[in-house]
Amino acid sequence: MTDERVTTGVAGLDEMLGGGVPGGQIIALMGSCGTGKTTLSLQFIWAGLQKGEKGIFISLEESEEATINNARTYGWDIQPYIADKTLTLVKLEPSDAKSTIGRINSELPAYIKNNQVKRVVFDSVSLLSMLFDTDSDRRSGLFDLCKHIKDSGATALFTAEVNSENPNVSRDGLVEYVADGVILLRYNETSDGSDIQLSVRIVKMRRANHSRRIKPYNITNNGIEVHSKAEVF
Ligand SMILES: Nc1ncnc2c1ncn2[C@@H]1O[C@H](COP(=O)(O)OP(=O)(O)OP(=O)(O)O)[C@@H](O)[C@H]1O
Ligand SMILES: [Mg+2]
Repeated sequence: MTDERVTTGVAGLDEMLGGGVPGGQIIALMGSCGTGKTTLSLQFIWAGLQKGEKGIFISLEESEEATINNARTYGWDIQPYIADKTLTLVKLEPSDAKSTIGRINSELPAYIKNNQVKRVVFDSVSLLSMLFDTDSDRRSGLFDLCKHIKDSGATALFTAEVNSENPNVSRDGLVEYVADGVILLRYNETSDGSDIQLSVRIVKMRRANHSRRIKPYNITNNGIEVHSKAEVF
């Protein structure tokens, strides 16, 4: 256990976290669609690449090419890092559940260790969750995945969809329990209903003295910007 903090790539969010996420932890990044989960995950990976830290970005949603293009819209050219193997993009096929889960358990932990990967992203763990047949498989599958990643020492971001009826909890209702930290992204309608405001809250973060305040953020051409000095309401 170390007290190392890992920058998220978002200065305002690092400030809310008291310097970044604790190294080696697994953080669930929860929010409804379009709240910027993929963007923030790419920003987290990009911040690592700028410091020479190896990353692996595992997508169950978008192809490698789509991920490269997605990053590029924010000005992050990840292609050279893929070429020199600082970054690995993996597209998992949700249609092939058995082989996907098999690959994650058999190949990923060794890959992280052998290549000294520092940052891992799963986008999204909600889709991964759906690959399991039963609740008990899902629980033990997610638990095993977390254990493997924690053993490897990498810091991980798991994106998760929220429950459509309750945007404070994840769709599978599990990831917030297996993760060490939970960051929640929200849409709020402004009081006159004419606009929406995005807000971020740190629900939990083990071993960190973090802010519990809700802060506004924007998605810009340069990625996510959290306004840690501003109030939402
Ligand atoms: N250059 C940009 N400037 C401002 N906003 C942008 C820009 N690019 C994308 N966005 C906004 O970011 C949103 C997409 O963010 P992102 O894909 O990270 O969300 P997500 O939470 O991963 O969504 P999903 O649940 O669908 O995967 C878009 O819907 C759009 O509103
Ligand atoms: Mg996404």
